[in-house]
Amino acid sequence: EELVSFRTQLLSWFRQARRELPWRGVGNPYATWVSEIMLQQTQVVTVIGYFERWMEAFPTVEALAAADEEQVLELWSGLGYYRRARFLHRAARQVVEEHQGRIPSTVKGLRELPGVGPYTAGAIASIAYGRPAAIVDGNVIRVLSRVFELRGDPRSTENHKKHWALAEALVDPVSPGDFNEALMELGSQVCTPRSPACLICPVREFCAGFAGGEPEALPEVTRR
Ligand code: ADE
Repeated sequence: EELVSFRTQLLSWFRQARRELPWRGVGNPYATWVSEIMLQQTQVVTVIGYFERWMEAFPTVEALAAADEEQVLELWSGLGYYRRARFLHRAARQVVEEHQGRIPSTVKGLRELPGVGPYTAGAIASIAYGRPAAIVDGNVIRVLSRVFELRGDPRSTENHKKHWALAEALVDPVSPGDFNEALMELGSQVCTPRSPACLICPVREFCAGFAGGEPEALPEVTRR
């Protein structure tokens, strides 16, 4: 049926279009966590070098927990939003002290760590542990508001809930991590804000925004 084709087409596109990135396909929840925290406010090209230096200095959650704050902040220097680094450091200590160094695998368990919100929890649970958790970020919001022609400001409580509900209903139960990364990658590489490349989009046939002829008008964000 339609949902199955949507997943299949998105996943097969991603499997040929995916970029090799140092945190991809390593099956290391700690690496997924570090990369997703860095990627929250920083572009992929910038994150690569920071991620590699970080993993060299703190290869495991135990190494990070044992580090002093000064060294942690020095390696973060230039990435901005230093609160992210302090939370990551504090959370690493919590994982070592309360979970024997094992990063929780459920969204609920992950959410108890400082700095881990619904997005990061869903990313770690799905990408590193293969759990069918949803994720919603700016790229996913753009894709979903176009595919489903969701109108209104996506930041309103009501629309925010709709995006999460849709992402949860869509996520592939067999390959949730690839599916979530595929949605984000589609948003950053194809379903771009101003001139989406609908002609090469793997899910164009499911897209109400494309059918309506004005996908770039979605999402309806009011500029602040
Ligand atoms: N942006 C944030 N996390 C990402 C990921 N895992 N893949 C692609 N883009 C991302």
